[in-house]
Amino acid sequence: MSPFHVTRTLPENATDAALRADVLEGLTRMPKTLPPKWFYDARGSELFERITELPEYYPTRAEREILVDRAAEIASASGARTLVELGSGSSDKTRHLLDAMPGLHTYVPVDVSESALRQAGEALVAERPDLHVHALIADFTARLELPATPGPRLVAFLGGTIGNLVPVERAAFLAAVRALLAPGDALLLGTDLVKDEGVLVAAYDDAAGVTAEFNKNVLRVVDRELGADFDPDAFQHVALWDAEREWIEMRLRARGAQTVKIHALDLAVDFADGEELRTEVSAKFRMDGVRAELAAVGLELTRWWTDREGRFALSLSLAG
Ligand code: AVJ
Repeated sequence: MSPFHVTRTLPENATDAALRADVLEGLTRMPKTLPPKWFYDARGSELFERITELPEYYPTRAEREILVDRAAEIASASGARTLVELGSGSSDKTRHLLDAMPGLHTYVPVDVSESALRQAGEALVAERPDLHVHALIADFTARLELPATPGPRLVAFLGGTIGNLVPVERAAFLAAVRALLAPGDALLLGTDLVKDEGVLVAAYDDAAGVTAEFNKNVLRVVDRELGADFDPDAFQHVALWDAEREWIEMRLRARGAQTVKIHALDLAVDFADGEELRTEVSAKFRMDGVRAELAAVGLELTRWWTDREGRFALSLSLAG
């Protein structure tokens, strides 16, 4: 096997079929919803990159701080010979971890974006000719089949993206991750933490309006991919804290009653004035909750690291 290998487990038309199904399901129910995964076309990914640099958006910097400070501990606690990263994107933050794992045999980045995988994989192989990189083009929320590589395995899911799954999706996702692990393998999970409401809301409603543009981008994606006629300017960005469920919700609020046509679905969707479409849930966590959710799928939380301000956590849990 060459040191850089790419496997596609996602059929070429899978994305299109999944988008149609999600839009049909989400816009014909009440309240209306769209899943956050459709933010991330090229423009959405670029807007997300800008979000991570905003003064108000602390999670990316907080998680990087933990990775920089704790990479050696993570590497030795897991003893991993294979690192699997779900939703690897540019593999940017993971570099800190990879640099702390000189004995790593294989890195398996998993992402839906083939271009991101190729870019990151080629750069990495150039630097680490010893390292096998086996990229998987796959949707990490679907059933994964990992290449046969030496254990122990460390599966990393960073960025707090687990918070974008609602609780039943989260439980199913964790059970599927657990199924990838053998005894002695580990999960490294990034979770944003419950904190002051003002800090949380500002992180999702920045002064420069980048998050508002990111939120509205999902409408542009539906317009382009499904021939819809959403006017992004006819919707207002909303970010609110749900104190009971301990999650941030992003919504798009209709400015005035309107009917949107979605050509590819032969569908007309009515919005009342002020009606809100939920586009993202971003759950915030506490250690006890994370421990319990992991225990429910047979993973034991053994390490918990936070940044110096206690805003974000990385946990390491072991499969028994
Ligand atoms: C890093 C993908 C988890 O929920 O904070 C950023 C996405 N949404 N601003 C998050 C996001 C609005 C983000 N994830």
